[in-house]
Amino acid sequence: MELTAQDRTGRPVISATGLFTPEHVITNEELVASYNDYVEGHNASNANAIAAGEVEALQPSSVEFIEKASGIKARHVMAKEPILDPDIMSPRWEERGNDELSIMAEIGVKAARQALERAGRDPKDVDAVLCAASNMQRAYPAMAIEIQQELGIEGFGFDMNVACSSATFGIQTAADYIRAGNAKSVLVVSPEITSGHLNWRDRDSHFIFGDVATAVLVEDAAIAPPEHWDILGTKLKTVFSNNIRNNFGFLNRAHPDGDGKPDKLFVQEGRKVFKEVVPMVAQMIIDEAERLEIDPKGLRRLWLHQANAGMNRLISHKVLGHEASNDESPTVLDTYANTSSAGSIIAFHKHSEDLAVGDDGLICSFGAGYSAGTVFVRKVG
Ligand code: COA
Repeated sequence: MELTAQDRTGRPVISATGLFTPEHVITNEELVASYNDYVEGHNASNANAIAAGEVEALQPSSVEFIEKASGIKARHVMAKEPILDPDIMSPRWEERGNDELSIMAEIGVKAARQALERAGRDPKDVDAVLCAASNMQRAYPAMAIEIQQELGIEGFGFDMNVACSSATFGIQTAADYIRAGNAKSVLVVSPEITSGHLNWRDRDSHFIFGDVATAVLVEDAAIAPPEHWDILGTKLKTVFSNNIRNNFGFLNRAHPDGDGKPDKLFVQEGRKVFKEVVPMVAQMIIDEAERLEIDPKGLRRLWLHQANAGMNRLISHKVLGHEASNDESPTVLDTYANTSSAGSIIAFHKHSEDLAVGDDGLICSFGAGYSAGTVFVRKVG
């Protein structure tokens, strides 16, 4: 039966997505060469202390390990040279004045403009902007409000941070505004400049992250373009864990290099994360599918969080009941690395156009907190 516009009011859909990819790429080879230069320099200048057993010698990183352990081959970054400079090993750019668009807002706006264009949506008809990302570049004013201003959107905006699950938590928040009748069009923008919170001098994690920005336009089905994705259901979950943590904040302003403690940057117990998060997320997907009366084995595609190829292999196997092909569970991790909350949205953005009307799929995130979010969608057109 055809739905009338009134029937469709209050039903959230994804009208379009947008993606901004930074032009600079760091390959594993470049990354490891720079890291190993740093190791060599560190070990040479601490040779006596190392020989006396007072300082531990650093071990070199390896391209083979990175690819085998994670599936990552390269990453995009906002600033390549300073990251690869063994004396800096961190992104750097000119500090911008308060009257200039800030860097996070700039890339968020680029992704948002693409989503708006793809949906044929005039910014004046958008009601709210949520900036949902792992890190905000400042405390306030909210990044979302700056993005809202730059796009010429009326209404309201605010920032939200649920680490790698920020985008799916943002989608559910936007969907709830639509379900409640508080908004008809909400932009969920995820500018992830993860290079700023990665410790590029930490062998265990220096290869993990990349920079990117995504945008998801969540709208009321009544105003959505003819081609869109019905949101069949959303589910969020959090369970406290210290296994992924970053202690940076305005209550502890010591420079990460200055006090010798690396805890003001990303730290994790990668093995534990792997072991604990895989079963939690797989079960969450299966339970939510059951609640929505969807056969998980019949899902046409899984757009999973992009942290580790092995994790995604295990989760998709548990959900689909067989080893997933790249068509069933596409990877963007190889070229983007882990882009925090943006990962599953990049996968959706790049690998959803070929699905047929009526196909069901799942956008799923997981990460620090722990946090996990599922968004089941069906193609309409
Ligand atoms: N180069 C070479 N060897 C390395 C290395 C590097 N860059 N980093 C670690 N190693 C070594 C370790 O020292 C260790 O050696 P040992 O066995 O002699 O002690 C060995 O490789 C295995 O290290 P481990 O840390 O146990 O690797 P892993 O197989 O667990 O892979 C991750 C590491 C981080 C890729 C993996 O655990 C992971 O992806 N976990 C989930 C992360 C995640 O989802 N995080 C969420 C972030 S939002």
